[in-house]
Amino acid sequence: MTQLMVRQVTRRFGGLVAVNQVSTEVVSGRVLGIIGPNGSGKTTLVNLITGLYRVDSGTISLDGRDITYTFPHERTRLGIARTFQLAHPFVDLTARENIMVGALFGQGKSLGLARGIAAEVADLLALRSVDRPVSTLSALEVKKLEIGRALATQPRVLFLDEVMAGLNPEETRDLVALVGGLRDQGLAIGVIEHVMRVIAQVTDWVIVLNAGELIAQGTYDQVSAQPQVIAAYLGEEGA
Ligand SMILES: Nc1ncnc2c1ncn2[C@@H]1O[C@H](COP(=O)(O)OP(=O)(O)OP(=O)(O)O)[C@@H](O)[C@H]1O
Ligand SMILES: [Mg+2]
Repeated sequence: MTQLMVRQVTRRFGGLVAVNQVSTEVVSGRVLGIIGPNGSGKTTLVNLITGLYRVDSGTISLDGRDITYTFPHERTRLGIARTFQLAHPFVDLTARENIMVGALFGQGKSLGLARGIAAEVADLLALRSVDRPVSTLSALEVKKLEIGRALATQPRVLFLDEVMAGLNPEETRDLVALVGGLRDQGLAIGVIEHVMRVIAQVTDWVIVLNAGELIAQGTYDQVSAQPQVIAAYLGEEGA
């Protein structure tokens, strides 16, 4: 049973408080939704959890171990993985090689093991013809590849930062099913998504950020009915 705990985490950029005293947790077999208008601090929260950014205050722990100040590569080794909002595959490599990078450099596996892991991950994602260059992949395949690179590090906790953005309804269904499968395998998952239908379908618990603050949490049905949540999104529309 994996438990990632975030306690009162704050991060400032100059005068801007991007994440303000946010507490939450992600546990095995559950999907946490992280929602909120543009610029509300969703990606920054994931950057703090994965160690890309340092917190100004607050703590982060994984299974009781304090990881607040450990390096990103150490957190990867401990089992925390993420996709990036803007996918940046190595375009000169094939899909298979891109996935292998996660196993080789994320977990320090040998070339042979990395090959095996890449084959398993490609299977799991139903990513066909993985020996094609990345430039020939469809939009859905690029998203899957981004997830595959994260899965190749053999994570216990996985954050998906808007992986469904730009996909059509059928492709979205495909990825929603994939996320459900990963959850059923016991992964602890955090999902950032603007498409509320997706959040409604895949999450067990949702936190809502607005201007860096956690303004609501609960099931999707609970938070989507709260006036301060509706106001935050309406404010975005008017902006
Ligand atoms: N490296 C940085 N330097 C300065 N400001 C930053 C940095 N990263 C994020 N910010 C600011 O912090 C705030 C939160 O940004 P963040 O990217 O976390 O929002 P988000 O909720 O992920 O938004 P979106 O839905 O558009 O992806 C924004 O005002 C953003 O401009
Ligand atoms: Mg973001």
